[in-house]
Amino acid sequence: MPNLSIVILAAGQGKRMQSALPKVLHPIGGKPMLQRVVETASLLKPRNIAIVIGHGGDKVRAAFDTDLAPIQWVEQAQQLGTGHAVLQALPVIGESDTTLILYGDVPLIGHVTLSRLVEAAGKETLVWLTATVDDPVGLGRIVRNQNGDVSAIVEDRDATEQQHGICEINTGFLACPTSWLTHWLPKLGTNNAQGEYYLTDILKLAVEDRKTVITYSPSANWEIAGVNSRAQLVALERIYQRENAHRLLDAGVSLLDAARIDVRGSLQCEPDVTIDVNVIFEGDVWLGRGVKVGANCILKNCRVGAATEIMPFTHIDGAVIGERAKIGPYARLRPTTTLGNEVHIGNFVEVKASRIDEASKANHLSYLGDTIVGKNVNIGAGTITCNYDGANKHQTVIEDDVHIGSDVQLIAPVTVHTGATIGAGTTVWKNVPSQSLTINPKSQAIQTGWLRPIKKTTA
Ligand code: UD1
Ligand code: CA
Repeated sequence: MPNLSIVILAAGQGKRMQSALPKVLHPIGGKPMLQRVVETASLLKPRNIAIVIGHGGDKVRAAFDTDLAPIQWVEQAQQLGTGHAVLQALPVIGESDTTLILYGDVPLIGHVTLSRLVEAAGKETLVWLTATVDDPVGLGRIVRNQNGDVSAIVEDRDATEQQHGICEINTGFLACPTSWLTHWLPKLGTNNAQGEYYLTDILKLAVEDRKTVITYSPSANWEIAGVNSRAQLVALERIYQRENAHRLLDAGVSLLDAARIDVRGSLQCEPDVTIDVNVIFEGDVWLGRGVKVGANCILKNCRVGAATEIMPFTHIDGAVIGERAKIGPYARLRPTTTLGNEVHIGNFVEVKASRIDEASKANHLSYLGDTIVGKNVNIGAGTITCNYDGANKHQTVIEDDVHIGSDVQLIAPVTVHTGATIGAGTTVWKNVPSQSLTINPKSQAIQTGWLRPIKKTTA
């Protein structure tokens, strides 16, 4: 099989998006559309990927790490048509390769569909991806002769009334030997309703040259759906989420409602994970065997160990959580937090840049920031680590088996040594030795028979 070169067209302005962000950088499932196309393209192991950019090209280029794929950027200064766009890429692709044409604004094209195109094209064939749709308005129509062989593609605006009735449309995707493109593309003219160099016109040239031309259709029609407006973007986002939810179900994940989960990045689940409704996953998330995620949680860039339960309304960003832990409801875990096995973090507890070891608990209304907590520590309700002096952050260390009462302030930097007990309502300024009790001297005054003020009545 010949080597593969891939050309991705992404020079269009996307005017209908009404956005300062170039169209191909708008996300589907949390990733820019063009990134999805590049990732799918990479699965085909191409020798290179030429991306044709125009409008907002600098922004598009800046959004990509070219180490991840063999990307070559090609400028198309003026958008003179799809044929002109591919022509710009020819100098950077291999003459003896097979070329596959993709689109930066058609993000869900599947790699199975594409590998079929590439494989057939490798055998000296022009393979065109077409689809039969209910509403072909605006799309190029596939014209076939009496034998059913493709003879041409006519654009909507150039089509006759009879051709408007054709429901087989051009998806734009095609593959063929690169040398054929080198031969045909310079021959394209602009004698059409839009005065553009149409890539689709190479089909007629192929038929004239008596080349083998075949058509394939995609595994599903959503694969070929393009995005020209925000309405199309959100419609495709729903399709992506639905398909992704079904992939999770097939992999053994329980979703309480397949229509109420959003994965904006990558979610990997071990078997028997259960996810309740309205959970949003962002970035890279890994859930161990038997993890339960309650309703209305947001989990971003985190790992959750086996049999841990995340209760409703919890927000996790950048944390690693051990096994059999209980988090939430209403907990917030912030970046670089590490929780050991069987840790409990309860309601209205915020943990930032902290490590909490096995079986320690902070169940109610706390802030733990820049803190190291040992094993079997109990942190009482309302306890706050005062980590910020207004200029710098400082560390709090709470060693194993410490018991901290309710409403304690720990003024960092400070260390509470093993087994110490801190009484309720204590402000801890100084390091606390092992196996000691710390309280602040306070007294309680009582006035008996106290009459509360009475609200004045007007007139
Ligand atoms: C094109 C096809 C049409 C097909 C439809 C599917 C042609 C002539 N027509 O029409 O048959 O049914 O796609 O969506 O190919 N682009 C460039 N540079 C250009 C022009 C376009 O990079 O000079 C890129 C655009 O960014 C876009 C893609 O090519 O990603 C398609 O261009 P567009 O103008 O949207 O083509 P359509 O009129 O939709
Ligand atoms: Ca289009």
